[in-house]
Amino acid sequence: MLSLPLITANLQTDFTGREIKYLPKVTSTNTKALELLEAGAKEGTVVLTDNQTAGRGRHGHYWYSGAGKGLAFSIILTPHIVFESASLISLMAGLAVGEAIKKFQLTPRLKWPNDIILSGKKCGGILVETRLQDKMMTSAIVGIGINVNETSTDFPEAIRSDTTSIALEKGTSVQRELTLAWTLNAIERWYLVLKSGKINSIISACENLCAHFGKTVSFTRKGKKIFGVFEGITENGEAIIRFPNDTGKLKLSSQEISIIREK
Ligand code: BTN
Repeated sequence: MLSLPLITANLQTDFTGREIKYLPKVTSTNTKALELLEAGAKEGTVVLTDNQTAGRGRHGHYWYSGAGKGLAFSIILTPHIVFESASLISLMAGLAVGEAIKKFQLTPRLKWPNDIILSGKKCGGILVETRLQDKMMTSAIVGIGINVNETSTDFPEAIRSDTTSIALEKGTSVQRELTLAWTLNAIERWYLVLKSGKINSIISACENLCAHFGKTVSFTRKGKKIFGVFEGITENGEAIIRFPNDTGKLKLSSQEISIIREK
């Protein structure tokens, strides 16, 4: 079971994770966080569980997290930023998870828009659900799943070959509480950067961690398979894809495609 005092002892935040709603078992921390938001929960409140039974992934996929082994949590933010910046919330969350994992002397990579990769396999994912009002993003539930101490056979067979955990990569188990506290510390730091408008520093940090920067990628858009070079990320968090033979560029929003692959 997760120890809340151990999390708090490692927090260096003003508001993120200062209120933690811990639930031993829950369907989805994002769903619970939305309920708490509606009931007036404060910014920075974290919903955390040891056993998420119906984790939700992007594009309606199921998210598996190992009971008592992985991390599944959601952070309530109330950013009041223009809705065009919505994708940046999930980019900065990916950045924060990447930074936390780096502290274990591992080399995480980000797969745009928000997969966390270790040794080419998925180790974490982010699902951001936002509320908009008058073209402003008033609130965001930032749901984060990190595979921490799972062994290979813990993962369902269908995802086993493409999935890894921090422990599998490091060869030893690590403290989930520390992983969480480090992630929350980094989230708050990047969130304040985002709110101060220094978007370029988020973009360049993401590009630095990006697994496919400058590489040829493929994806399916409107039923058509497309190839192009991943050139970078725009100020709104879209991917910039350059077509072969300099035949133009495309800006890709994270809603448009589910998977971008290296060629
Ligand atoms: C993805 O890669 O598809 C995103 C996965 C996001 C999973 C996390 S786990 C905590 C939070 N609660 C959910 O139901 N989903 C997110």
